[in-house]
Amino acid sequence: MSTVKLPGLIDVHVHLREPGATHKEDWDSGTAAALAGGFTLVLAMPNTQPPITSKAALEEVLQLASQKARCDYAQYVGAGAENVGDLAALAPRAAGLKMYLDQTYGPLRLDDMRHWMSHFEKWPQNRPIVAHAEGRTLAAIILMAELFKRHVHLAHVSKAEEILLIRKAKEKGVPITCEVCPHHLFLTREDARAIGERRSEVRPPLNSLEDQQCLWENLDVIDCFATDHAPHTLSEKDSATPPPGFPGLETILPLLLTAVHQGKLSLDDVVTRLYRRPKEIFDLPDQKDTWIEIDVDQEWMIQARELYSRCAWTPFEGRRVIGRVQRVVLRGNTAYESGRVLAWPGYGQSIREIGIS
Ligand code: DOR
Ligand code: ZN
Repeated sequence: MSTVKLPGLIDVHVHLREPGATHKEDWDSGTAAALAGGFTLVLAMPNTQPPITSKAALEEVLQLASQKARCDYAQYVGAGAENVGDLAALAPRAAGLKMYLDQTYGPLRLDDMRHWMSHFEKWPQNRPIVAHAEGRTLAAIILMAELFKRHVHLAHVSKAEEILLIRKAKEKGVPITCEVCPHHLFLTREDARAIGERRSEVRPPLNSLEDQQCLWENLDVIDCFATDHAPHTLSEKDSATPPPGFPGLETILPLLLTAVHQGKLSLDDVVTRLYRRPKEIFDLPDQKDTWIEIDVDQEWMIQARELYSRCAWTPFEGRRVIGRVQRVVLRGNTAYESGRVLAWPGYGQSIREIGIS
């Protein structure tokens, strides 16, 4: 056994489903899954039911989280057509502003570019904006980042054409950063048959081997890895209208550690993309006395029945991996050890509200 100590990991893109769909996940089960995966801080997306698009909705979700979260967290607010004037006041308490510009799960989608511009004008310049944009929509939002000279973080980049466009834009000094998800690094369309076509539904979709290789070849352009943890139950995934999304919190680190074993990237590359860059880009505070211990040599098999996520399945079922989280220490207390989550619901802190009350 060889134990390595790393900082508590940060996932800037998770869906915790509460309020509204707690049969898929809630703040308790989702943050338990986070700790089991080595994450001590998660940023939660706003496409809940109701979506987090107002002061009242933000206050409701922060109240729920304060009672149930086991790890630290912050909550995004969602950009809508009707709430442009309301959101700036919420910025200090929010993880950032999420703009859905392409097909996704839920009603939050902005097609009219006038709305994009209004949000860019109103949302504070120094607070994060995250955009879900694919293909040519991605090109459009990159143009807007340049025109407004303001930073935009691009969620779940998945295609060769996208990562190459981002490389060019970064070379020209456009203020953008980006994240890539484990399912686009470790699965392709070819895997859909084995996983099941319906279960394989995810946005952005699984892509070609060429797309996947291009992501690996352009690792230096990728600022963050983020799970886009998007739990749906198996009965939902196996239905005639499967909702898109995969759980990811508990599988990303072993997948990446296995890739480290294979020489595809270094451990430092992992820490940069799951800790250093997320912390810088999203202006996140230090978590004092917080670290994780991993056994980098342990071989094991991913099995849904061992996972904490309520959705109770994984597209990586049966995959052999090398490297396992042994212990997570969050603010001085052991929050997870040897398969058991020890932090209690309510232990997690709202990192944007520390000092505000
Ligand atoms: O696959 C996805 N699932 N993509 C999204 O954009 C949303 C997410 C969800 O919330 O289920
Ligand atoms: Zn998402």
